[in-house]
Amino acid sequence: MRGVLQRAAPIAASAAPVMILGESGSGKEVLARALHANSPRKDKPFVAVNVAALPGELLESELFGHVKGAFTGAVTAKRGLFEEADSGTLLLDEIAEMPLALQAKLLRALQDGEIRRVGDTRPFSVDVRIFCATNQDLRACVAQRRFREDLYYRLKVFTLPIPPLRERVEDILPLATMFLQQHEHRSGRFTARAQRLLEGYRWPGNIRELANCVNHGAVLSGGADVDVAHLPEEVVKPRPSPEPASGAVLRTLAEVEREHVLRVIEACGGHQADAARVLGIGRTTLWRKLRAFGIETEE
Ligand SMILES: Nc1ncnc2c1ncn2[C@@H]1O[C@H](COP(=O)(O)OP(=O)(O)O)[C@@H](O)[C@H]1O
Ligand SMILES: [Mg+2]
Repeated sequence: MRGVLQRAAPIAASAAPVMILGESGSGKEVLARALHANSPRKDKPFVAVNVAALPGELLESELFGHVKGAFTGAVTAKRGLFEEADSGTLLLDEIAEMPLALQAKLLRALQDGEIRRVGDTRPFSVDVRIFCATNQDLRACVAQRRFREDLYYRLKVFTLPIPPLRERVEDILPLATMFLQQHEHRSGRFTARAQRLLEGYRWPGNIRELANCVNHGAVLSGGADVDVAHLPEEVVKPRPSPEPASGAVLRTLAEVEREHVLRVIEACGGHQADAARVLGIGRTTLWRKLRAFGIETEE
């Protein structure tokens, strides 16, 4: 992380695009905000949008805005995020999920510094610094023709890869301690046994998962030291226990489903989009299931 931050300092000062790579929850948006806050644009807006959260047509009007009557439901004109971020920075999160047709429009906007609202004929100029973030191998997406090569090279002037938390074990306890101190039950600490578990776990959800785990522990310990018993089950027992012999325990369909869904997400390194593909369901369906399981999802 020190190496990443050292490289980040001069990059922050420039006006060039930055591509931030890293697993889900590893801190890509945090780094993007830090770059912006250390850039000459720091007093101008920072706007973040999750490209994967909206279908193509909606995404286009979200990014570029639309004129009144541009499509059914466009009862008023709307500014797009490019306009909101004018003279500031726009983070395009999960850029790999952007539909090809929109990639072409984004490329044009970056090349010409001009955008056109949906339904409008007149382009106008904007001054937006673009950051993008992804947990996917974009080069592979280019090879599979899911991502435009020209856009790829335009976006990756600078790339900053964030290592997953399990590859920087020495960061786990300082971060966990900070999260614990931020919690309202801040009096306790981690017992030595709890510390060992935190350092030994794989953290497929990275820092986001660590923060949730610490909150879990802080609530259950109620201000006393956080011990093994207060940590979430998956941290204490990281490997799913072998299937009980058939007939030993009869479980409901819902229990089996929950277990399987969580196992697939872990096998996909916490990437929900990949997990949804493996499970053969839509991302929204997966998201709804996770919510029903009481698990915090990525926005
Ligand atoms: N270096 C850090 N220090 C403190 N909290 C962090 C750090 N990096 C990430 N987080 C927290 O972890 C969570 C996930 O970070 P985020 O930037 O949204 O990850 P990503 O965009 O890679 O999914 C957020 O709640 C964020 O505040
Ligand atoms: Mg994110």
